[in-house]
Amino acid sequence: MILPIYLYGHPVLRKVTKDISLDYPGLKPLLDNMFETLYNADGVGLAAPQIGLEDRILVVDMTSLSDREPSFKDFKRVFINAYITEQDGAEEAVEEGCLSIPDIHEQTLRKNRIRISYLDENLQPHDEVFEGYKARVIQHEYDHLEGIMFVDRISGIRKQMIRSKLNKIMKGEVRCHYKVKIAPGK
Ligand code: NI
Repeated sequence: MILPIYLYGHPVLRKVTKDISLDYPGLKPLLDNMFETLYNADGVGLAAPQIGLEDRILVVDMTSLSDREPSFKDFKRVFINAYITEQDGAEEAVEEGCLSIPDIHEQTLRKNRIRISYLDENLQPHDEVFEGYKARVIQHEYDHLEGIMFVDRISGIRKQMIRSKLNKIMKGEVRCHYKVKIAPGK
């Protein structure tokens, strides 16, 4: 099922998510819905707050970018109860976008390497290191689990320049090819 993606300005996107219990009801259909929603919106990552849930879950599928980097070919992952335990390496600015902030792309500074502990879709624990663009995508989605959005990480001047666009997104005044949801009362 394709779910609406919550837009910038919705309060759920500012919540710090909570760990899910190991007997979370409907986990498998929820993950299926998250991937379906992600593919429908042509994204590479989606976090639970973007579909209105305060659960510590993110999904990533970078297989559509495999012509750019062969190691993305089977890079489809679920990260449950995820915690980044190390963030290091060179800091690099690369253009990012976000399904919750349509039509805005900005250079965003991130560290090049992360270590993350998480459970996979079968609730098996992992502790893994990622580098480069994989680390970037995971960090972007991980930020959502902490109530942070990529526009929080861009320069103050750039943020001022996109302020009116952000205000429009908050009111749902944006063209989008996927279903979206705005904050109540906006
Ligand atoms: Ni995002």
